[in-house]
Amino acid sequence: MLSEFEIVPATSDMLDDILALEEACFSSPWTRKMLEGELTGNQFAHFLVAIRHRQSKIKTEPAIIGYHCFWIVFEELRLMNLAVRESMRRRGVGGTLVTAALHLALEQSATRAILEVRISNDSARSLYTRIGFVPIGSRPRYYTNPIEDAVLMQMNPLVVPHGRQREKGFVSGGESASTDSL
Ligand SMILES: CC(C)(COP(=O)(O)OP(=O)(O)OC[C@H]1O[C@@H](n2cnc3c(N)ncnc32)[C@H](O)[C@@H]1OP(=O)(O)O)[C@@H](O)C(=O)NCCC(=O)NCCS
Repeated sequence: MLSEFEIVPATSDMLDDILALEEACFSSPWTRKMLEGELTGNQFAHFLVAIRHRQSKIKTEPAIIGYHCFWIVFEELRLMNLAVRESMRRRGVGGTLVTAALHLALEQSATRAILEVRISNDSARSLYTRIGFVPIGSRPRYYTNPIEDAVLMQMNPLVVPHGRQREKGFVSGGESASTDSL
């Protein structure tokens, strides 16, 4: 079976699928209202999804396998929310989504990027470190359910990563990237 994914802007009709993924991935998920607000009511917000086209002999079925919400506020890119379906992790989807945000932010003249991540979230911290973010501080008890500190990470100056990540399919929004099948 041939499979691939592409990065495209999210639309309101994807809300149900995004919410399902959000609820599957986080202990304190964003609500439908919060997601809707980012999709339609926030001038700084951008929302990208990774869509996988699973091909069989008779039809192609698109499925949302990841998403990334981020804000571009003048010179600053803020990574707000990122998730990849569990069965599709470690295939470059999360990195591709973040890299697409970096590309867009650079195009819009952003010069630095920041994010918060749970101190125990080793996979996300590894991903951000590999992309080029560095820890610059912490926010005590930032998260609830469970209560936990956030690590504040920054990329300054903002650059798009090169090397192995790109070989694996770290591309900007709209292009396709080949992946393994599920
Ligand atoms: C964090 C998350 C988005 C990563 O998505 P992903 O598609 O698996 O990430 P990628 O495949 O692009 O990973 C790229 C690199 O990040 C690092 N990385 C990602 N997951 C990792 C893990 N579980 N352990 C160690 N390193 C990891 C690796 O360096 C990896 O490269 P490699 O696979 O060649 O070793 C995903 O695990 C997820 O959705 N987690 C739950 C939600 C969440 O925590 N979101 C982040 C909130 S801040």
